[in-house]
Amino acid sequence: MNPIVKRMLGSSLARALAHPSSVDDYLALIDDRLSLAEPRGRVVHAVRQTPDSVTLAIEPNSNWRGHHAGQHVLVGLTLDGARHSRCFSIASAPDEPLIEITVKRNGAGRVSNYLVDQAQRGQLLYLSPAEGDFCPRSQAPAKALLLSAGSGITPVMSVLRTWLSHGASTDIVFLHYARAPVDMIYADELEALAAEHARLQSITVFTGAGGARLDAAALDAQVPDLAERETWLCGPAGFMDTAETLIAARSSAPLHREQFAASRRASAHGQGAVQFLKSDIAASGEHGSLLEIAEDAGLSPPYGCRMGICHACKCHIAEGTVRDLRTDRVRQVRDTDLQLCIHAAAGDVAIDF
Ligand code: FES
Repeated sequence: MNPIVKRMLGSSLARALAHPSSVDDYLALIDDRLSLAEPRGRVVHAVRQTPDSVTLAIEPNSNWRGHHAGQHVLVGLTLDGARHSRCFSIASAPDEPLIEITVKRNGAGRVSNYLVDQAQRGQLLYLSPAEGDFCPRSQAPAKALLLSAGSGITPVMSVLRTWLSHGASTDIVFLHYARAPVDMIYADELEALAAEHARLQSITVFTGAGGARLDAAALDAQVPDLAERETWLCGPAGFMDTAETLIAARSSAPLHREQFAASRRASAHGQGAVQFLKSDIAASGEHGSLLEIAEDAGLSPPYGCRMGICHACKCHIAEGTVRDLRTDRVRQVRDTDLQLCIHAAAGDVAIDF
């Protein structure tokens, strides 16, 4: 949007004229990607690389401030009249004009499943600013190990694409664990890149039905010079824990772990009563995170990642005793904001919702 037009539309006069609607509501009548401040995007390609995933190329509006390699974004869409959102790693390199994400089907995940089944060219998506610090430095190291499993490949692809597009001379081993060839996203691209770049070695390990697992012997065979390599790691929490332990025993080089999936160390069994003050609803705090308890009580607090990353579920707690599901730490809180998805009740809790 032209900056002068944007400034005019953002003036208090324009806002007053738009009241009780918002300026964005009127802009949406012209083009639903238009917004004064909100990053939004439109799908320009939807490619299904595997039966249970879709890779989307998204053209963002001018409110998108770009991203760094390996960051993630909260993607929202309107389903049944309500906005739902979910966090996805960005697979594209920062200087590419389109944002690329790959979405995998996910049990009860409404957003993921909708996108896998129905996303197509033209789909409008609401976006958050990019977040995360997986790739904190722009300078590529001399030698690197990119290690991923499952959909953890997406932020690692972003790191790889960034280095290659910048002509970095890094010697790269890209080691990926997938269940089976049919589940492997970016297989063709990785093969093509490895054929084109002599300094890139791509190794894929299949784990399904008696397949291999990440262990000391495999790692020593696949990456004999591990001690010389800086590592970027992403995958399911168990895979990352195993990899981190193995690598720490072999190398003191830096290891960057994409904390995309916050691991829950504590069970979500709680106690006490949870009172939702504004809704005047009381629920048992025994089962689930505070977010799950709210949803079971028929409420719809906002959420995104459900993993403690995006902060979309932050809610004001009047007072209560809560358990942090990542650390198992119990604490008393009063008049504070908490992420509902990673806290359970450890006693009575009063939530302003
Ligand atoms: S939903 Fe993302 S932090 Fe809770």
